[in-house]
Amino acid sequence: MLNARKAVQIMHEYHPPLAGRLGLRLDFNENTDGCSPRVLQRIRQITAEELARYPERELVETEVAGHLGVPADQVLLTNGVDEAIHLLCEAYLEASDEVIVVTPTFSMYEIFAEATGAKVLRIQCEADLAFPLDKTLQAITPAARLIAVASPNNPTGGVATREQLLSIARKAPHAAVLVDEAYHEFYGKSVLSDVVGQKNLFVARTFSKAYGLAGLRIGILVGPGAQMPMVRRVASPYSVNAVALAALPVALEDREYVADYVGQVKAGRVRLEQELTQLGIPWWPSEANFLLIKIGAQHREFVSAMRQRGILVRNRSTDPGCDGCVRITLGTASHTDRLLAALREVVPGLQRDVGVQA
Ligand SMILES: Cc1ncc(COP(=O)(O)O)c(C=O)c1O
Repeated sequence: MLNARKAVQIMHEYHPPLAGRLGLRLDFNENTDGCSPRVLQRIRQITAEELARYPERELVETEVAGHLGVPADQVLLTNGVDEAIHLLCEAYLEASDEVIVVTPTFSMYEIFAEATGAKVLRIQCEADLAFPLDKTLQAITPAARLIAVASPNNPTGGVATREQLLSIARKAPHAAVLVDEAYHEFYGKSVLSDVVGQKNLFVARTFSKAYGLAGLRIGILVGPGAQMPMVRRVASPYSVNAVALAALPVALEDREYVADYVGQVKAGRVRLEQELTQLGIPWWPSEANFLLIKIGAQHREFVSAMRQRGILVRNRSTDPGCDGCVRITLGTASHTDRLLAALREVVPGLQRDVGVQA
């Protein structure tokens, strides 16, 4: 009988919806408006010849490196940040190793780490969901080989400061430290320039959020010059497809598009915060394109009432420390209008039923 590896048999399953997300999708932190029209125009011009040959990523990698201001040999394009995480697990983890993640956070760190058989140590965020620096530093042992931190974090929206991240990297020179900057464009701060001096620091970025290209699956992994050849060894040479490679330089060039979208999201975040405060719903400060809010016992009813009004939001109530919480993505100004109108209808009903406490 054929059996999967033991580690695979016992690992957690992640079940993202793979169909049926109809409505205004404020549930997966995607761009709600779609990518730059210039990107779409480039994709429409793709030729049969471009599709017939295997994708050539080297030139685009050099362009991306120029855009980021880092040497080209330190940049690897990936099939989304998901692949970047997978590659780090493949390159660095043995079954006897430890992986440190902060919870709640993005699920794929645990999934890919568990698949190697490594032991995942979950460090709970502080009671206010702040980054648990001291507990993370204390958890570092010689067995730690990968430490993954999303900053801004998903689903909390909170950040770890540059000093906090560097103190982790310094305390664990034997571990790959991944700073996942998937929401970088909404935050603005980065540890990218520290990759040059810190020999175990990796930074991941994505085109799935601010750039509106989640469907193309493009991410960037930047790492130390001495380490990237090891990561490349485990990477498929063709994991980033030709359409994505054609679109990427245009997406990077159209800075105006991204700046405008990010501006709308940030303005929407402030409007949502004000509305929630007025409605008596607690929320956590966020540096990303979403807000985590505390609905309380009626979180399921809330999600379903929003769905009835054509708006999808994500229930995060089962995340550790997030009982009764829902995550709402922010998008364009008109999408925020729709969101706020729906909240004004839905929340008072909940308050009548159970009393939401601010
Ligand atoms: C922190 C974080 N990293 C990575 C991703 C996934 O990025 P990609 O679409 O590039 O695989 C997400 C998506 O939700 C995320 O929240």
